[in-house]
Amino acid sequence: MRRSIACLLLFTLVLPGLEAAQPVRARKAMVVSRESNATDAGVAVLKAGGNAIDAAAAVGFALAVTHPSAGNLGGGGFMLVRFADGRTTFIDFRERAPLTATRDMYLDKDGNPTRDSLTGWRASGVPGTARGLEYAQRKYGKAKWADVVAPSVKLAREGFTVTYGLANGLKGAKNMAQFPESKRIFQKNGAFHNAGDKLVQPELAGVLERIQKSGARDFYEGETARIFADQMAKNGGAITAEDLKQYTVSERKTLEGNFRGYKVITAPPPSSGGIGILQMLAVLEKTGYEKAGAGSAQAIHYTAEAMRRYYADRATHLGDPDFWTVPVSKLLSPNYVNKLRASINPDKATNSDDVKAGDLRTMESTETTHYSIVDAEGNCVAVTYTLNGSYGSGVTVPGLGFLLNNEMDDFSVKPGVPNMFGAIGGEANAIAPRKRPLSSMAPTIVLKDGKPFLVVGTPGGTRILTSVMEVIQNVIDFKMNIQDAVNFPRFHHQWRPDKLQMEPTFSPDTVKLLEQRGHKIDIVRNICEIAAIEFQDNGWLAGAADPRVEGKAAGY
Ligand code: DON
Repeated sequence: MRRSIACLLLFTLVLPGLEAAQPVRARKAMVVSRESNATDAGVAVLKAGGNAIDAAAAVGFALAVTHPSAGNLGGGGFMLVRFADGRTTFIDFRERAPLTATRDMYLDKDGNPTRDSLTGWRASGVPGTARGLEYAQRKYGKAKWADVVAPSVKLAREGFTVTYGLANGLKGAKNMAQFPESKRIFQKNGAFHNAGDKLVQPELAGVLERIQKSGARDFYEGETARIFADQMAKNGGAITAEDLKQYTVSERKTLEGNFRGYKVITAPPPSSGGIGILQMLAVLEKTGYEKAGAGSAQAIHYTAEAMRRYYADRATHLGDPDFWTVPVSKLLSPNYVNKLRASINPDKATNSDDVKAGDLRTMESTETTHYSIVDAEGNCVAVTYTLNGSYGSGVTVPGLGFLLNNEMDDFSVKPGVPNMFGAIGGEANAIAPRKRPLSSMAPTIVLKDGKPFLVVGTPGGTRILTSVMEVIQNVIDFKMNIQDAVNFPRFHHQWRPDKLQMEPTFSPDTVKLLEQRGHKIDIVRNICEIAAIEFQDNGWLAGAADPRVEGKAAGY
């Protein structure tokens, strides 16, 4: 009964034109991140005269202190920028496979996958965050480097207050309990940090201070690098001093497409996210699906069928573009998109067994985090960065106080064997030295009439691109304000497993109608955690943190 009233309310509240929830509004600048100290750090840098890129570096370093499940120095990510003058760029600081990595490194002698890509010292790719944030800030920022790193140093050195959510997260992190240094720092050796406690991280403060003083060079070639490589060798990890030294950032061209006259600027490979968002939106554009209304079985059906088809393509065609030719324009070509659309039965779910990745040969050519920033000049930055799983590999490097990623699991460890997110892959995403694992991270910026309109992104593994797309659909097709668009129940389909994931806030009626069409429904809580900013027509900025988590939007 309670649930149906809640559902009824939800649907009444999001009728076009009505606003149910209010975003945070500001005149000039806005930061939305997953954690309040990090948002405040970004706003402080902006107020002191820094631009959105400076603030992005500050928020990235701050989250490495205050949001240890995903904020990181030991991971990597993507930064999408649209400058006030209209230029765009994509900074790829994703982890790379170590030089000694081999295609079968996570298979036992019988060829079966081990769990080593998930937990422990061998799960990590070479981290990219410190070099990535520095690259972006040095090239495009205008503040002093030391001032951008300063808030994170303070948060680590002096400590910050543990929230309810963080306390629960740390308590529940079984992967960390196996590693003494993680257990000591993040779980108080099993006594646990409670909400309201202060978490002080002196080792991490030391690393950040060295980064503040000597730049990312310390992390890759200095004292931090020496301790890091030493500990790796002692514990059977693969990352060496040479791996760290050779780590490079790749600056790439953004991927761009159109949806109903809006321009969508998004993540190119090695993300699978941008291509997915553009292909799925293009498939949906001419279906008329939106007429059935937000949250209706018909709208969900069409969207899920577009999703199912893209994930089949993803499994075969997507990988690191430095190692594999990704057929981007073929996957987005009108001919191909029309074919995909025509294969959707309006009344019946397609069986995933009957969906295969497109044969393009005959054609023409549980954690990550996202933050969105707009500055007073009109620069927009969207950053998604990650340790992959919650608290990554579970390993904290002794003496350095930061957690390491388990990003190697984003490779296809064996063709057809699902990774942590149930995604499968093949040759395109096989492991090779220096290669970057395929990602779903999809920081995205939408333009309306050539001007910034939305800045959006989220964690959530393979569900990232579908959730980003749903927010775009909610705003453009269903006319919601940004907070309603973020709050609205989400769903996800990824071809395999053949399941339609839906949040429990959808009406039971809708679920039943979808089941009648042949969808196999899985009810799952909290699909993703969006951080978004909308440029309102009246000149105000509207920031929306996701109520599913303890995020914060703030501006001035
Ligand atoms: O790059 C990717 O697609 C994944 N490593 C992201 C992981 C993630 O979002 C986990 N978050 N809940």
